[in-house]
Amino acid sequence: MELSVKERRQYFVAHVTTSHKSTEYLADPDDADLAKGAEQLTVQEDTSDPIDPIDDVTSAPHSAPHSAPPSPPPPENNPLHPIAYSAALVSKVDRMPVDIPQIQTSEETDELSGEVLFDPWCDPCNPRVIQFQDISAAAFKIKSGIMMTPCTRSHISSMTGCQIFFKKDFLQYTGSFKERGARYTLLMLPEVQQKQGVIAASAGNHALALSYHGQELSIPVTVVMPIIAPIMKIQSCRQFGANIIIHGKDILESREYAMRLAKKENLTYINGYDHPHIIAGQGTMGLEIVEQVKNIDAVVVPVGGGGLIAGIALAVKSLYPHIQVIGVESERCASFRAAMEAGQPVYTAAKSTLADGLAVPKVGINSLATAAPLVDKCIAVPEEFIAMAILRLVEIEKAVVEGAGAVGLAAILAGLLPELKGKRVVVPLCGGNIDTTVLGRCLERGLAVDGRLVKFSITVTDRPGGIAELTRILANLGVSIKDILHERAWLKSDIFSVEVRVMCETRDLEHAVELERVLKEQYKSVHFGHFADVTNAGGMKIDLLDCPSPFV
Ligand SMILES: Cc1ncc(COP(=O)(O)O)c(C=O)c1O
Repeated sequence: MELSVKERRQYFVAHVTTSHKSTEYLADPDDADLAKGAEQLTVQEDTSDPIDPIDDVTSAPHSAPHSAPPSPPPPENNPLHPIAYSAALVSKVDRMPVDIPQIQTSEETDELSGEVLFDPWCDPCNPRVIQFQDISAAAFKIKSGIMMTPCTRSHISSMTGCQIFFKKDFLQYTGSFKERGARYTLLMLPEVQQKQGVIAASAGNHALALSYHGQELSIPVTVVMPIIAPIMKIQSCRQFGANIIIHGKDILESREYAMRLAKKENLTYINGYDHPHIIAGQGTMGLEIVEQVKNIDAVVVPVGGGGLIAGIALAVKSLYPHIQVIGVESERCASFRAAMEAGQPVYTAAKSTLADGLAVPKVGINSLATAAPLVDKCIAVPEEFIAMAILRLVEIEKAVVEGAGAVGLAAILAGLLPELKGKRVVVPLCGGNIDTTVLGRCLERGLAVDGRLVKFSITVTDRPGGIAELTRILANLGVSIKDILHERAWLKSDIFSVEVRVMCETRDLEHAVELERVLKEQYKSVHFGHFADVTNAGGMKIDLLDCPSPFV
């Protein structure tokens, strides 16, 4: 059955919903906690270490001043003393080869608290604007250690109305573009700091990238990860030889701890999206993009802390000023847009999102200073379209991409960029590190949004054959039942009736609509769950409305 656009609209207005009430599968950082963490992180200038005022990133100072490295505290006072993390993790740790560092948890000690926090590379009073030559220097330096990933025309083009080219940086060794900036920053460290080692706070891709390239370049790496960091990523960092510390309920607490430890242990703290060398390194992706695709009209870039878009925008606009650079962030943490509007980084509540890599509550000062004049616009994408994009990429592109890496496509699928119709558009798929369980949920969610996974409840007669009749109707329509359950106790209607709840697979949205029509013709009480329109790819945006689900 073909639906006209008008019918679709009517249908969606009646049925479509956003999924914001049911996305709690990722750790949900408490907003109040984030705000508290943000306050604690107020950065203050350390007057004992005057900051180099010039924008030349190669001559910027290293981390805060240190006296001679302190001798290690006795074990009982040692904040790095390994303690049980969780029974499951410890048992795994015990089985790891001995030359892989152990995971440590830490408790704040007086020694590490109350210090003035300052990252001289990211000074709010002295933003650094990265220059094009920094990116070309980075490209030259990292060439031998970073993959030049493909940037190819996608089959998805025919569905979206624009010619899409995917820059496949999820194919980097650790699964994300973060390797570019991490390697360049490590290579640019003075020898003495390379020997001493670096530290970072990250729940994911930055930690992986630093750990791997640190091992490659024989630079000791410590990463502080929040307790919400996925075990898969913690384990991978360990495999790359990093010293892992689990500290903090969110990334802000981890960062604060990492900065204190940097000062105490004389390590160089590396901000994953705002260190000037990180931004320059990420910009190398922009150089590759313009080399690989001719006549580009626009590049649609995921935005978290802003390092990637700053680097790409600088590279692309320096060479081809007419190319539009569009930022995309998660609707659940739109901190870059807020910063653009405010003219400075501002704290924005970060809620749990499928694009966890983008949940940065305050963008970087250098990233913003570099990107703001170059970015044409920044939009925020709802969760259901991120799930849809992940599904489309698996089905059509045969690519496993994490939420943060898929938001560019999500924005196009959501119809948020109608001006790109008929244009040549590059979309970086910049990360593939998604937990298998989360991937499974995303795919299911994507199928539901697509109208291919449908749930409904229906009241049928409890006489023999009542449920058989229902399943016959479904079979005749070619609908496949995934789950079915029936209950009698809570029904208020006729005592000889039974409520049947069904989850089933349909071919597509039209098929789901037909199913609902047929059932409503034959039964009095039929309630369908959520669908959302995403078939209108590349066209206008359809309103998404809430409607109560019978199963919630
Ligand atoms: C896969 C992926 N894409 C995009 C981003 C955004 O990068 P940035 O924080 O530099 O804006 C991140 C950040 O971690 C990421 O992991």
